[in-house]
Amino acid sequence: MDNSSLQKLADRLLAKIRNHPGHEYNSEKLAKSFKVEAADIQGAVTILKRMGYVLKSDHGKKLVFVSPPDRLFEEEILHGLKTRKFGRKIHAYQSVQSTNTIAHQLALAGIPEGTIVIAEKQTRGRGRMGRRWHSPEKVGIYMSLVIYPQIDPKLAPGLSLMTAVALAEAIEKFGFKQEVKIKWPNDVLIGNKKTAGILTELSGEIGRTHHVVIGIGINVNQKSSDIPEDLKNKATSLRIAGKKMLSRVSLVQEFLLLFEKEYGRFRKSGLNGIRKKILSYSSLLGKRIKITSGKEIIEGNAIDINGEGHLVVETPSGVRLFNAGEVTLS
Ligand code: BTN
Repeated sequence: MDNSSLQKLADRLLAKIRNHPGHEYNSEKLAKSFKVEAADIQGAVTILKRMGYVLKSDHGKKLVFVSPPDRLFEEEILHGLKTRKFGRKIHAYQSVQSTNTIAHQLALAGIPEGTIVIAEKQTRGRGRMGRRWHSPEKVGIYMSLVIYPQIDPKLAPGLSLMTAVALAEAIEKFGFKQEVKIKWPNDVLIGNKKTAGILTELSGEIGRTHHVVIGIGINVNQKSSDIPEDLKNKATSLRIAGKKMLSRVSLVQEFLLLFEKEYGRFRKSGLNGIRKKILSYSSLLGKRIKITSGKEIIEGNAIDINGEGHLVVETPSGVRLFNAGEVTLS
């Protein structure tokens, strides 16, 4: 059997045995049911083991599925995904420059809304303000979602906040109740350190959006030594904060489900439908802040986030609204 047929057999074998972990399959019977040789089943088992699946195989006679790997394979993400649309089409890669760039190209080619691009590693992960997003292999989540919202591009900042809410809600489900905060406009913090960031990129013209790519970077299983020295006092990972490793696959699935819900609300009633949540997660409200917006640095009190996602700041020269910027507490 050639390699590609063997890979297909491995996929079919996995689909059959993974739903019954611990069950002892007879390899010969499996070979018969797939109409292949017993040696082909062994070949498929070798492929699955190499991918990280834990299988017990006894001298090629018995086969037991033990556990899946925490790898961002299409098959793993789809298995147990509860969404209707989001994440149903997956482009999964080992290594890419940036998932946002690929998602943008796919959107230009018209891929369906809800498609995700996800990678185990990025070599040129991009952050906001032209910064880089450190994307070490197999420990983080680097994912881009494509959507086609029929909104005025002016309202796009709201999409980042909506995504931040879904992300915060998803992270909370992994044992971080009360600790998760959203730092306007689109950082997710735990214990005042950044654990996830969102890069929303829009393609459109004045008054009309063609597509939006929402890029999400989550520090999940990074150890302290995986965080670059210059970021150590500002950044963390869920593993560092929670003192245990998490399933990246489960977090992606949870996030996609919550994103689908929050995006549904956003489409019906804009940010107003989720504004209460945004306010309750906010790390800035009621605080004295310094905001850098363009060439200006302004100090004041953060008093609100309005229905368009603007940060409302009380300054010595009056109340001002910001639709973007870099904020520090002062
Ligand atoms: C930020 O906080 O500055 C935003 C970071 C966004 C990083 C993600 S990782 C997946 C996607 N691809 C990229 O190149 N960037 C985003």
